[in-house]
Amino acid sequence: MSHSSAAVSGRFIVLEGIDGAGTTTQTERLIDALRARDHRALPTREPTTGPIGTMIRQVLTGRIVVADDRGPRAPDWTTMALLFAADRMDHLDAEILPALRQGQIVVSDRFDHSSVAYQSASAQDPTAVAWIQQLNARARRPDLTIVLDVPEDVAAERRARRGHRAELYEQSAFQQRLAAFYRDLEKHYPGERIAHIDGRGTPDEVHHAIVREVDAVLAK
Ligand SMILES: Nc1ncnc2c1ncn2[C@@H]1O[C@H](COP(=O)(O)OP(=O)(O)O)[C@@H](O)[C@H]1O
Ligand SMILES: [Mg+2]
Repeated sequence: MSHSSAAVSGRFIVLEGIDGAGTTTQTERLIDALRARDHRALPTREPTTGPIGTMIRQVLTGRIVVADDRGPRAPDWTTMALLFAADRMDHLDAEILPALRQGQIVVSDRFDHSSVAYQSASAQDPTAVAWIQQLNARARRPDLTIVLDVPEDVAAERRARRGHRAELYEQSAFQQRLAAFYRDLEKHYPGERIAHIDGRGTPDEVHHAIVREVDAVLAK
């Protein structure tokens, strides 16, 4: 990672994967490594800590529900896709783009690939992917997206050790569909730089693999 690249221009890096893949752990590790090399680096995540992201988190934990004759239940995937897209544009506007303009390296724990993966897996409707991508068509593209590939059984074990109550999307069959979607994520994002890393290694091993990918992008 050359020091000279710090001042040149911002870079936008995204970490993706199923729940328990390690994106939160590795976002932190990457930010620490970048800062140790004197880069200005901003960690962020989706759903955000902003007003729309906060509402989404309340849906994920069951605090906000639809109370109809089938309820209380989570809102339909279409509502979720719109909320996530609104949170994303606010995230870009309020946090990501300002930091990139200042030349920072922004590392986001999830971005619009998560929307396409999670809401299309909820929809089980072949037209869902295209519609969700359209909702996100104005979102700035990452310079690099890293997918941490982990089989659902490994991720489930990690989630169980984390110990909190399972959130909306944390069901095994659902996570298996997600893992399959992430395995060939690039199919849905032609022209984007997407790197797969085996997320089953130790946190150190995964971190070093991530740094190698990030170095290649910073050197450009
Ligand atoms: N490479 C790894 N090996 C073993 N456990 C891990 C690894 N990465 C993360 N963990 C643990 O697994 C759990 C889920 O990790 P986390 O980073 O929160 O995943 P995510 O944000 O992708 O859901 C945490 O308890 C974390 O400490
Ligand atoms: Mg996480």
